[in-house]
Parts: sequence; structure tokens; C-alpha cells
Amino acid sequence: MELVKLQLDAPFAVVTIDRPECLNALSSQVYREMIAILRQVEAMDEIRVVILTGAGEKAFAAGADIAQMVGENAIAGRRLSGLCHETADLLENMRQVTIAAVNGYALGGGCELTLACDLRLASENARFALPEVSLGIIPGGGGTQRLARLIGVGRAKEMIFTGDQIDAQEAYRMGLVNHVVPRDQLMSACRALGEKIVSRSGYAVALAKSAVNSSMDIDRRNGAEREKDLLGLAFATRDKQEGMEAFLARRTPQFEDF
Ligand code: CAA
Repeated sequence: MELVKLQLDAPFAVVTIDRPECLNALSSQVYREMIAILRQVEAMDEIRVVILTGAGEKAFAAGADIAQMVGENAIAGRRLSGLCHETADLLENMRQVTIAAVNGYALGGGCELTLACDLRLASENARFALPEVSLGIIPGGGGTQRLARLIGVGRAKEMIFTGDQIDAQEAYRMGLVNHVVPRDQLMSACRALGEKIVSRSGYAVALAKSAVNSSMDIDRRNGAEREKDLLGLAFATRDKQEGMEAFLARRTPQFEDF
């Protein structure tokens, strides 16, 4: 791949958007490469955590590629939005846990990619915005949907209607990011959090991810039914037996490979 790099270090896969000369702007090619890589990684049994980041010192991704979009018509705009959504949906629903390592600007489509990840860790220099209205367009990678669910409709509307940037500490206060860490500790902090999750039952984490994701799409009553079904499914795993027996015997559980 030319614009997106994959580094495998089981149980981690690090996916890096690699166009630092234009702040990792997200062209159609970037999205296509990311989709291909995420599909490839999803099939890798040995990978449990996917860390998504941007190359260089300044940006995670400064949004969709404006130089590409400027000459495009409505059909191309819709197609681009389709690619943004496909990438975000993959990140949101893949069996692995996804962590955005936000190492600088996460604007427009870049911010939307972080919203689709399960967890977001930001370096102190990270900045978030959905600045599309300044360009005469609207967010097209799920931002109008996921931001409101994460930080509330009122704050999401202010960010989307003004396009204003917020810094990492403000993002933390809003619940937009899980943690803020010094720049040089960003990847190690992502790995430490990933290691902790990997030490838990992989089946249980995947079932929990699926249950929480359901809460975004279905009403509370049906969400509760789904939670009951998934807990029943968890009871059918060897990990449930091992986890509970280990607790009672005061030993560390040995969970199955997931
Ligand atoms: N698309 C294309 N190129 C971009 C870009 C983008 N989104 N963001 C930055 N670049 C390019 C700049 O054109 C510049 O290229 P040159 O060196 O060839 O001139 C290079 O990256 C460095 O950028 P700046 O000189 O602007 O750097 P800066 O430090 O002065 O400013 C910035 C940084 C505040 C992030 C500024 O670059 C910026 O505002 N970028 C655009 C952000 C934006 O509006 N993103 C939303 C895009 S729309 C979208 O994302 C919609 C969607 O999901 C479908």
C-alpha cells in the first residue's frame, strides 16, 4: 500500500495514514487502502487490537482531501461519503478492539475516523474539529451521527455549526477522548491499554463490543433483549468456566485464544 501502512506486532496491528506532506489528507485512495487493510486485519486471528494513527508530528488526519474534492461533482461527493462510511463502519464493527492514537490534528474526516474507533487516546497537541461548514459542505463520514451520541446533541451541534477546533484537554472534558497523554507516550499508552484488554477474555470483549454498539442503533428494550442473548452466549464459552473457576481458586485465568 502506498498511503496507508500496516505494521503487525501481534496482538497489535498499527495502521498509519502516511501522507504527512499534506497532513494525512484523506483522498479516495487513502480510504480504499484503509478498507483493504482493515478487512485483511479483521481476518487475522492473532490480532486483538488495531491502533490507528497518522504519520508525522502534526496530524492524525486533517480531513478529506480538499485538493481532490474541489473539482468533484455531487455524484463523486456521495461516493466519497460512501467510502468514509465504509471505513468508519469497519472500524466500529470489526472483531478487534480499535484505538485511535490521535497525534495531532483530527479534523473533518480525520475526526470522524476517531469517532468510529472504540477508544480514543490523544496527545497533548491533538486538536479536533468538524470544520466542513467553512468549506460549504457538511460532515460526510458519520460525524453528524456519532459525535452527538458521544458528547450530546447540544455540544455536537456547536462543534458542527461553528467548525471551531477544540484542544485535547477540552476534548477530554467533553468525553470525546478517553485519555490525554504526552506526545512521546501516546503509542505506549495505547499499547498499555490494549494489553490490559487483551488480558481479558477475547470472546467476552467481542460480545460486549457488539452489545454496546447495538445501543447506538436500536431502542432500549430491544437492546436489553440483545444483551440477554449475548450474555447467554457468553455462558456457552469455555472462557466463562475458566474465568469463574479461576476467580474462586484465586488464580489468574488462562483464556482461550480468540
Ligand atoms: N486536504 C488537502 N490538503 C490539505 C488538507 C486537506 N484537508 N489539510 C492540509 N492540507 C495541506 C495544505 O494544503 C498544505 O499543503 P502545501 O504545503 O502543499 O500548501 C499542507 O497540507 C500543510 O497544511 P497548512 O500549510 O495549511 O498547515 P497549517 O499548520 O498552516 O494548518 C490546518 C494546519 C489547520 C490543519 C490546515 O491545514 C487546515 O485547516 N486544513 C484543512 C482542514 C479541513 O477543513 N478539513 C476538513 C476537510 S472536509 C472533510 O473532511 C469532509 C468529509 O469528511 C467528507
